[in-house]
Amino acid sequence: MELGVDLVEIARVKFLARRNPKFLTRVFSAHEMAYCKAKKNPWPHFAVRFAAKEAVYKALGKAEVPLTAISVVSDRHGRPSATINGKRVRGMKLSLSHGRDHAVAFAVLAR
Ligand SMILES: CC(C)(COP(=O)(O)OP(=O)(O)OC[C@H]1O[C@@H](n2cnc3c(N)ncnc32)[C@H](O)[C@@H]1OP(=O)(O)O)[C@@H](O)C(=O)NCCC(=O)NCCS
Repeated sequence: MELGVDLVEIARVKFLARRNPKFLTRVFSAHEMAYCKAKKNPWPHFAVRFAAKEAVYKALGKAEVPLTAISVVSDRHGRPSATINGKRVRGMKLSLSHGRDHAVAFAVLAR
């Protein structure tokens, strides 16, 4: 079993997006963009998905996957799961949480 965790400062993601208009579309999938933009305050949702990419990357334990290939898909109940290049990652479990300032993601790879 492999683990990965990442903590992201929400203001940092907002800053990067404001500084570079291409940041969001470069980093996040169309599904993630639509999900986050539908929220009243999209920044915690973008930040936690950024954290999720890092957490999944750590759980994979190898550097072959670019962060942009990793995406979070949320089912109709809001439960998140990870995809790489649009495909579910077998055995990968993801849990996300965000507070006022920070977002955290925890990934477990069991296979
Ligand atoms: C799901 C729940 C535990 C989230 O807890 P929270 O303290 O409000 O928020 P957190 O910041 O810790 O977690 C938010 C993340 O939890 C994840 N999440 C949401 N629903 C989830 C679920 N059912 N199972 C697992 N993870 C879930 C999402 O990734 C979410 O992030 P996102 O909004 O960016 O996608 C909380 O909303 C809850 O207890 N819900 C009860 C069920 C409910 O109300 N359902 C409504 C439909 S009837």
